[in-house]
Formats: sequence, structure tokens, C-alpha cells
Amino acid sequence: MNDSHIRGSFISIEGIEGVGKSTNIRFICEFLNRLGIANIATREPGGTPISEKIRDLLLEVSNKSICPMAELLMMFSGRAQHICEIIEPALASGSWVICDRFTDATYAYQGAGRGLSVDLIQQLEILVQGAIRPDLTLIFDIQTNLGLERANQRGNPDRFEREDIEFFDRARHCYLTIADASPDRCKLIDASQSIGQVQSEIRDLLEQFVASRT
Ligand code: TMP
Repeated sequence: MNDSHIRGSFISIEGIEGVGKSTNIRFICEFLNRLGIANIATREPGGTPISEKIRDLLLEVSNKSICPMAELLMMFSGRAQHICEIIEPALASGSWVICDRFTDATYAYQGAGRGLSVDLIQQLEILVQGAIRPDLTLIFDIQTNLGLERANQRGNPDRFEREDIEFFDRARHCYLTIADASPDRCKLIDASQSIGQVQSEIRDLLEQFVASRT
């Protein structure tokens, strides 16, 4: 059998600021490397040169006047480029894709956070992504104030990080609702646990997931 015909799996990593996504993404890639599973780590907004320019526009603090609809379309514009240039070719070649945020973040931030309609986001999701959906989503959850406290330690907050706690509360609750509504795809992980406990949960979930895909 020719392995190049086996499509890779698409894993997205979600959660509000300060849940420790970057550390856990490194852990996931190392885990997959040990199993000999080819993988790439990427992120949204961003992931390609053009999408990274859109990311810069979105995060730039002085761009206060970006309206919610423009923000939503910029997210999906960067996503369209990311899918076409990176995600789809990688999956088609058999590589797994580990993406730091994907469309669940749009429901959480532009939907719940900014108050844009879920229906509109769903329509854009269908239009832009076609059949592309994560096969597995790890949602890291933490009490909003704890997450923000951790994120603030990094300093130099971007345009999103300057939002008030209610904005992130709405995003967090949207993530919890998504996890509840899609239990097969979404696995909720308590990010307030020790790093050892978090990584042991990730390992268990990935072992099950890999077994289900191979
Ligand atoms: P990051 O801090 O995880 O790199 O993400 C940058 C910000 O972008 C973060 O505050 C969440 C936000 N975001 C959205 O608002 N909508 C989206 O669709 C995505 C992917 C990210």
C-alpha cells in the first residue's frame, strides 16, 4: 500500500488566553514524532506569509477602528489562504496538521465576544472551508481571571488582549458550549491542573485518537 494516499488528520487547539496552548502544541508534535507520524504545527490567525500580514493588522493595537464585520472577514480571509497554501496540501500529502486555533475561535471571539451572528459565521465556514473541519479539537479551559493573569505576565498586550474580562468570559463560555455540543470531536482539558497532569491527559487522548485513525 502507498502511504502517500492516506490523508493526514487535522487537530485544532483552542482556549482563551493564558491556557498554555504553545507548550502543549510542542508536546503534541513531539508525541507524534515519536510515533513516526509526520506533522506540522501552524496557527491562526496566520500560518502563511499573507495570513501573517493579516494577523499583524488584526493584533496591532493602533487598529482600534477595525469593525466586528471587518474583523470576521479578515479572520476568514487569512483562513482561506491558510487552507489553500498549507492545511489542505499538508493533509493531502499525509501529514498531520496541528493548528493553534481554528474556526471555533471565530465562534468564541467574533460570535460570542463581539456579538456577531452564529448563522453568519456558519455560512462563512461552509463557503471558505468546504469540507475542511478539524478531526479532533482540544479545548483548554481555565477560569477567565486565571487565564488573563497568566497571559498578562507576557506583557505588551495585543488588540485582543486589551479587551475586558467579560469579552473573554463570553469566549470561554462559547468554547464550553462547543465542547458540550460536539463531544466526539472536542475534548475539554482543565488547564488549571499541573503541566504533568495536563500532558498526561493529552497523551491519553492522543493515544485513543491515533488508534482510531490507524
Ligand atoms: P493567539 O494569541 O492564540 O495567537 O491568537 C491571537 C488572537 O486572535 C486571540 O486573541 C484570539 C483571536 N482570534 C479570533 O478572534 N478569531 C479567530 O478566528 C482566531 C483564529 C483567533
